[in-house]
Amino acid sequence: MQTIKDIDVNGKKVLVRVDFNVPIDDKGSVLDDERIVSSLQTINYLIENNAKVILMSHLGRPNGRVIETLKMNKIAKTLGDILDKEIIKIDDCIGEQVKAKIQEMKDKDVALLENLRFYKEEEENDLGFAEELASLADIYVNDAFANSHRCHASMQGITKFIPSYAGFLVEKEMAILSKIMQNPEKPFVAIIGGAKADKIAVIRNLLNFADKIIVGGILANTFLKANGANIGTSKFDSESVNSAKILLSQSKGKIILPIDAFAAKSIEKGENSRIVKIINMPDDLMIGDIGPDTIALYKKEIKDAKTVVWGGPLGAFEHEKFEGGTHEIALFLSGLKAKVFIGGGESGAAMKTLGLDNKVNFISTGGGAFLEFLSGKQLPAIKALETTN
Ligand code: 3PG
Repeated sequence: MQTIKDIDVNGKKVLVRVDFNVPIDDKGSVLDDERIVSSLQTINYLIENNAKVILMSHLGRPNGRVIETLKMNKIAKTLGDILDKEIIKIDDCIGEQVKAKIQEMKDKDVALLENLRFYKEEEENDLGFAEELASLADIYVNDAFANSHRCHASMQGITKFIPSYAGFLVEKEMAILSKIMQNPEKPFVAIIGGAKADKIAVIRNLLNFADKIIVGGILANTFLKANGANIGTSKFDSESVNSAKILLSQSKGKIILPIDAFAAKSIEKGENSRIVKIINMPDDLMIGDIGPDTIALYKKEIKDAKTVVWGGPLGAFEHEKFEGGTHEIALFLSGLKAKVFIGGGESGAAMKTLGLDNKVNFISTGGGAFLEFLSGKQLPAIKALETTN
């Protein structure tokens, strides 16, 4: 894989795919700038070396529609504040007007294109769209490690049309994560939480070599449902229940699920939240977090591990009432002798909030990408970089 150090960027238009898919509030303001900060090494290098820097990213899941709160304007503002530099915000990501704006750029200028996912062609890896993106610049750089598990036009298709290189963040993440995978010390315990259903596929891969897979968050609800448990009104992914059932039957007891929970009528309101055993879950409550018996069980399963990977919160930790499980496990991990690797904005944010981010071996900017790589899958956008040029 070649990196930006391998080319002369002086005076060149360099199109950099970053992952600025950061947490935002309902007005689109940035709540955590970690992913933006993580791309600064590449951006600053390009500025220092007189490139015209054209950044592009997705934000959220607009599914091919323009959604006001998912526009990149506030991200441009945050980046401008961090760099103390004017960012040229361009209100589209392909087309003649975009090209005209780029044509006006001077060396060291930084531009940010509009949300790539406003076009459905991005996620479809449409080659026409990829070629349009490629036509904006001389060189393409992938610095979006966190999105490298997505076989999308700006990640994979584009490398067919333009000389393509890895940015510093991709280079660093790949170096650290590859080292973990070369010879992971066993027992190897994976803790997988969060809401995204595509983590089911990650669990399928992890079953090949993890000794235990501890599950939390909405993902755990899906597994509990598959296990025949009553989960009341809890959120779960109905389309994944069958896959979860198959995985449970193949898991040889490796998959560990919650046995109790903090539940309430509404997660948002959190009123009258209480501890319930999963076997006695009332029909009108929803699970907000893992309960104390589950926390004790999970600690027991984790304590002798030599390698731990953790991706995704174990409950609705954005609500104070349901942050306890995620925080307790974060605290426990920070005191372990094991090598601990954390992926995903939310788990990383939990460590940061608790001031524990220096107590673990590595916090990746990737959530899904981190887990997919560690589960042994080749990331399509990284493969594309390796096979291009
Ligand atoms: C992430 O946050 O994991 C990446 O930005 C990918 O986002 P996605 O899950 O919406 O594809």
